[in-house]
Formats: sequence, structure tokens, C-alpha cells
Amino acid sequence: MCGIVGYIGPRQAYPILINGLHRLEYRGYDSAGVALLNGDLRVFKSKGKVHDLEELVKHENLSGTVGIAHTRWATHGEPNDINAHPHISPSKKMAMIHNGIIENYSTLKEELLNRGYEFRSNTDTEVLIHLIEDIMVNEQTNLVEAVQTALCQVIGAYAIVITSQDQPNLLIAAKKGSPMVIGVGEDEFFIASDATPIIEYTKNVVYLEDEEIAIIERGQELKIKTIRNIDKTPYVHKLEINLTAIEKGGYPHFMLKEINEQPNSIMDSMRGRLSVEKSIISLGGIIDYQQKLCNARRMIIIGCGTSWHAGLVGEYLIEDLARIPVEVEYGSEFRYRNPVITENDVVIAISQSGETADTLAAIKLAKSKGATILGICNVVGSTIARETDAGSYTHAGPEIGVASTKAFTAQVTILTLMGLMLGHERGTISKSKYNQYIHELSRIPEKVLKTIKQTEKEVLNIAERFKNSTNFLYLGRGYNYPVALEGALKLKEISYIHAEGYPAAEMKHGPIALIDEEMPVVVIATNGGTYDKVVSNIQEVRARKGKIISVVTEGDVTVREMSDFIIEIPETEEFLVPILATIPLQLLAYHIAVMRGCNVDQPRNLAKSVTVE
Ligand code: G6P
Repeated sequence: MCGIVGYIGPRQAYPILINGLHRLEYRGYDSAGVALLNGDLRVFKSKGKVHDLEELVKHENLSGTVGIAHTRWATHGEPNDINAHPHISPSKKMAMIHNGIIENYSTLKEELLNRGYEFRSNTDTEVLIHLIEDIMVNEQTNLVEAVQTALCQVIGAYAIVITSQDQPNLLIAAKKGSPMVIGVGEDEFFIASDATPIIEYTKNVVYLEDEEIAIIERGQELKIKTIRNIDKTPYVHKLEINLTAIEKGGYPHFMLKEINEQPNSIMDSMRGRLSVEKSIISLGGIIDYQQKLCNARRMIIIGCGTSWHAGLVGEYLIEDLARIPVEVEYGSEFRYRNPVITENDVVIAISQSGETADTLAAIKLAKSKGATILGICNVVGSTIARETDAGSYTHAGPEIGVASTKAFTAQVTILTLMGLMLGHERGTISKSKYNQYIHELSRIPEKVLKTIKQTEKEVLNIAERFKNSTNFLYLGRGYNYPVALEGALKLKEISYIHAEGYPAAEMKHGPIALIDEEMPVVVIATNGGTYDKVVSNIQEVRARKGKIISVVTEGDVTVREMSDFIIEIPETEEFLVPILATIPLQLLAYHIAVMRGCNVDQPRNLAKSVTVE
């Protein structure tokens, strides 16, 4: 949610900053801006995408070896040129970019208004940079001290970078609740919301912790202090991602690339964790908590969006295989509803980005009540990964498309490994079943590849037929209920077609009223426990002339005869079906969105990493 980039060093800053903004555009894309320092401070801002900013500055003087830049997802104030970042101080000598929300900004603004300050924008950010300069002037402090004093008054989340005309060799960065990475090169520094703008220049990075301020000075070592002026030693991490992982690699969109990466990303999630020959599942990151997990009174899985859907699959899996009670919660609900949590509970937080504010707040609440907290995150070193007691990274590689695809299947893969490991340890699945299951799990990457290859043609037909529909209904039962939810979410977020996911049997308690000859109904009707029941649900749709698109197991006869369109996926164990069945639904959403001319990778109003509640 908002991407920030900064540079100081011997090179020209602008190309680095713009390149960085393109990399971070997935985080927000309603307006963008850049501030460059070369004697004087020049600020350029534009409503729209980074590309619009590039157009705006085409004929401008863009020289300067210090600069900051921002791509925005609006929280305070509509997306327009004025509310875009950077924001400048009253003297116009300092510029600041900000990711996060200053919750007490109106109180701070009122005080500043009373003292005669004027504001051009409706943003909380402009309030903060005014406050910082006000402290410098009135309390005769230097910039670092003023930032410390201001941030001690701030309630909320921030990742900020400040540049000042009076100190051209200095950038100040600080963070709380929003991510910030500093790349440490040879006599140069890079600042960004994640490592993607940095990796082509250096692999050495420092992750700033909450309430830390980085004093980034040309020709000096990186210095870190807290907002309460305690010195910290920067810890340099080595980045493990490479450039090809964050480029489109010949695909028209990141989303399509990421869908096609799933055979590999699922394999990477299992790498070193599953050995079929030795009959072992070993999740190194949580090994010290294995007994605690086995003895858990119950598990609470927390997530938002697609990660919450993965959590639902996890509930079915863990209850089914390991017989431990599981509850699945939205972070945003859990954190505010005074939940009952005890020391015997194990909380599993699922988050692709590892930065989602509501999931993070839910973790903090559960932690304060003494629960054990595990994480399933994709982004290494992310806040949630660091806030949890232990966890397993999904290792799906960077996911850039805003609609989550490979992260979902990787999350489900980790939950499957957990369910099987726990079922085996607790003796709730027999040795022979365990062996059979892990053998089948090891074949999932190859079956995902087969699913992509064999379904794409029919998916394109279906997309062509229904691209102008205004509503879609997705139905599934058991393990396929979360798949229905995820299929509907994918479609609505990137094609803007209204879509609802429903447990198939619940359809008759409401959504059935929507069904007519115009209504496409996607039914996931694979082999398994509820197959016959789903067949009855399909009959109910047919009787009302709904158009039936079924996802079935290869070789299915019954549902085929009842359907208008059929998507066949390979046979597998029932608990592994969600991974396979989700793939054609991702492809369906993708192709419909492309046919409708939508911006698939950056759908309107959405952001990949939601760091506000
Ligand atoms: C946003 C994204 C979704 C994602 C959700 C949770 O809404 O657009 O794709 O599922 O946040 O994000 P997380 O990073 O916690 O998985």
C-alpha cells in the first residue's frame, strides 16, 4: 500500500527512482511523484500511474544524485496531483514521502492551523512534514531530532523518507508498521518498501525495525537510532531473489506468468520439506513447536483476502487429517471482537506479503494472551514473519500481480504439509494412508502443469462466451467451498464482474433467486464425499435454466451430461483437489479480464499489500 523509493549516491537518481516505482506499482497506483535535489529541490507529481508521471516530466530538468519517489494508494484525500506525494514543508525546502496512516493527524493539523500554517492537500503526510519543520524552527533542533520528536507524537503507521535542500548529502528514513528496506551499496544507498527496486544494484540490505530512524549520509556508514535516540547497529542481510523473478519473462502479464509458475512454486514450497523415499515431512521453521502443535487445544488460522481462503482449506485439512479443532478468522474481525484465546491455542497467521495490517494486529492480540503464533508468509523478512514465534515461508517467489495466484497454492501446500505431518504424529492417519498421501502430494506439481495445459483451451471458450455477463455464481462443497470463494474473488477483483462464491447447498437459501438463463454458475463437482449432493445442486440450477460450467474429475460422465461447459482436472486425493481446481478458475478470471480490456495486474482500487486497517 503505497510504494516508496529513495536514492543517494554517485549516480543520477531519477532513472533509479522511476525504475523502482515501476517495481513497486503493485502496491498502489492512483498517483505518483518524485522529488530531486540538485542545489534546489524540484518536485513533480501526477494523478494516475507511474507512466503518467514519466510523461509529465519528459521535458523537465531531472538531474540530481539525491531523490525520493512515491506511488500512492489513497487513504486521506482523493487521488489527484495535489494529494500525490512527495509533500513539501512550509519553507518548501524539505520534501517527504509516506506509506501508512497517521491516525491522530487531525489533532496535529488543528494545532498547526491554530499556529497559522496552511495546507494545500488533504493528506496526513503534509501534516507530518509541517510538524517536523515546525519543531526544527521552534525548538531549534536539527532534522534528526525534529523527526524523533515528531514521531513520538504520532499515532499510527508510517514509513517515511525526507530530503532537505539544506542538507543535500542526507536522507532520513523512519518506519513503524509499514515496511522499509535500505540497500547498502558502494558509497550509495537505496531505500524502498520492498527489495525489488534494489536487487539489481546490491544484494546487501538492512530491514528497518519499528520506531527506528536511518540516517543515510553520502560517504558515511549507515547510522540507525530509535525515535527515543537509542543507537542501533545495522544488521546487513543478503538478498536471495534475483532479477528474473520480478520480470514478466515474455508473458503479457505478471498474473499469467504467476499462474504458469505454479508447478515450480508448489515444488519450491515442498523442497527440503517432503521426502517420499524416507516418508518424512519436516518443516524446519516450526520443528521446535511441533509438540506444541500436536498438543494444541485448538488452532486459529488468521488471514485476509485470498490468504483467508487458504486458511479455510487449512481448516478442512487439519480437522480432517489431524483431528484438531480449527477456527478461521478474518484478521479485521478477530482483532476487535474480544476473542477467547488461551495459552494452549496455536494461532497460524497466513499472509503473502507479511505486511497486512489487520493480520498483524490480530497476531499482536493473540500474542498478548499467551498463544503460540506461527506464520505462513511469502515475503522473507516481512513484518509478520518477524512478529511470529516461528513459521514456514511459502517460497513461491515474488508475486507481483495484485490478484494472488501462486501465493494461494503455496499457502495451501504448506497447510497440507502441516496437516499430514500432524496427522502422522498424532496417529490420526494410518502409516499406509500417510505414505499414499505424501506420494500423491509429491505428484501435485506435475498434475498442476497438466491442469494448466489441458484446461486452457476450454477456459478460453468459456471466457469468450461469458465475458459480457454481469453476474457469476461459484458453488462448491467441502474442500471445494473455499475454491468457489477464491474463484469468485479472482473474477470480481480483476474483471469487475460481480461474482459470489457459495457453499453449494446454501444456494437454495438465497442466491437461487438470481438464477435465470443469463446466469453462469461455476460448480466445482469433483469426485469425493459430496459428489452426489453437488449433482443435486446442479439439477437445481438446471431446473432454473442457469448456465452450468462444471469443474470435474477427468472421466466424469454424470456431471458432463448436465453441464453447458466442462473443465476436467486430473484425479487426486480429495484434500488435494483445491490446489488443482483453483487453477482453471484463475485462468478463467484472467482471460475474461483480458477480453474486457481490464488492467489485470493492477485492478482498480486494489493494492497488493494492505498496510492500513
Ligand atoms: C490484498 C490483496 C490480496 C491478498 C490480501 C491479503 O487484498 O490484493 O491478494 O489476498 O490483501 O494479503 P496478504 O499479503 O496478507 O496475503
